[in-house]
Amino acid sequence: MGRSTQKLSQEQKNSAQEGLSAGTTAKAGECNNRKLNIGLFGFGCVGQGLYDVLNHSQSLKAEIGKICVKDRNKTRSIHQSNFTFEQDDILSEKKHDLIVELIDDADAAQALVTGSLRKGRSVVSANKKMIAENFEHFFRLLLEKRTSFLYEAACGGSIPIIRTLEEYYDNELLRSIRGILNGSSNYVLTKMELDNLSYADALKQAQLSGFAESDPYLDVSGTDSKYKLCILTAHAFGLILRPSDILNLGIQNISEFDIEYARQRNKRIRLIAGIERSGEEYIVKVLPKFVSRTESLGTTDYEFNCIEVEGVYSDRQFFSGKGAGSHPTGSAVLSDISAITYDYKYGYRKLKKRINGHFPDFSKDADFIDKEFNLRLYIRYQNKSELEKLDINKVVEEYSSQSEEYIIADVGFTSLFKLLGEPNALFICEDE
Ligand code: HSE
Repeated sequence: MGRSTQKLSQEQKNSAQEGLSAGTTAKAGECNNRKLNIGLFGFGCVGQGLYDVLNHSQSLKAEIGKICVKDRNKTRSIHQSNFTFEQDDILSEKKHDLIVELIDDADAAQALVTGSLRKGRSVVSANKKMIAENFEHFFRLLLEKRTSFLYEAACGGSIPIIRTLEEYYDNELLRSIRGILNGSSNYVLTKMELDNLSYADALKQAQLSGFAESDPYLDVSGTDSKYKLCILTAHAFGLILRPSDILNLGIQNISEFDIEYARQRNKRIRLIAGIERSGEEYIVKVLPKFVSRTESLGTTDYEFNCIEVEGVYSDRQFFSGKGAGSHPTGSAVLSDISAITYDYKYGYRKLKKRINGHFPDFSKDADFIDKEFNLRLYIRYQNKSELEKLDINKVVEEYSSQSEEYIIADVGFTSLFKLLGEPNALFICEDE
């Protein structure tokens, strides 16, 4: 296990102590009369959604100053005087007291969010990839700078899950979190099942509806869900896992045959991201799963997301809401902006509990992942040789017709990592 530590700076020590003993609204009430001026980066689906919901907000004291965009030739729905193409027009403009970052490029976003936080500015972001890949970096920076960095829209769209984990479950020992964290793939699964659409047509509709990422492979491969799971894991369990630590298998190879297989068993296929305690370790994965039509996860359709939190004492609670789309996601950003008007900050209590004068070596948190177990899987294949990569311990069912072949088998979890990064034609789904 990774238990080595690093010395904390005085500022980090103070902040860690403060976070353990004080609340998260360090200066609550102080800024209630301030009208926030927002410097906005990005005017895509979420940026436009924010613009709309902010314009219709009755009471929020906030306005968008300038909007920085990349493409000079794109026709936009509002007057061009609202836009700039120079980042510095926003970053150096003192009247913008809040930066809202809604761009696609995670590296560019990381640079501008880091720069803004270093200058002590508050930031709101919806960039799950950037946050998941740089979680420790931002956590350390926030301990030093004590400014607000909020990102509710990065997980579960409109579901207020991060603040719920921060505020409601801050002292609760949690057993598991699992859910549907990607609206596009859930939309595809629902459309294939209920409307008999092909995979390609359903995905096209998800793209046209503004649910999908610019690269929709991130949605259907479970990569986007994995970013969100990393963020939830840090807030819920105080573990900083890197996306590369987590197994993600997606729905990119699903066929009508798989949907029909589930239907005949009175089940549905859902892409489930989850973390659960297993003794001192955690089982963490993103995998398609056959779920029953009557359980909560099986009632989540189209672009809706859901999250089931299980506490040791509170037991199970279920959260559901639109996980993708311009207005639902824009409304989560709006809620963060509103929280900034009263100087709300995440407390990161579960992470801070692990700091005792010294930083734990978060880079070794992957050592807490349990990989020594078997999963019962449905595996439909086109070429039997692809099964050779897997550690198949027991085959409980085998099916072969002229057009389709599958097995139900117990498979060593670790061997599934061999499928990552290499294209294959397998469709894998967790069975009960
Ligand atoms: N592409 C994402 C999804 C958008 O479909 O869930 C919201 O994060």
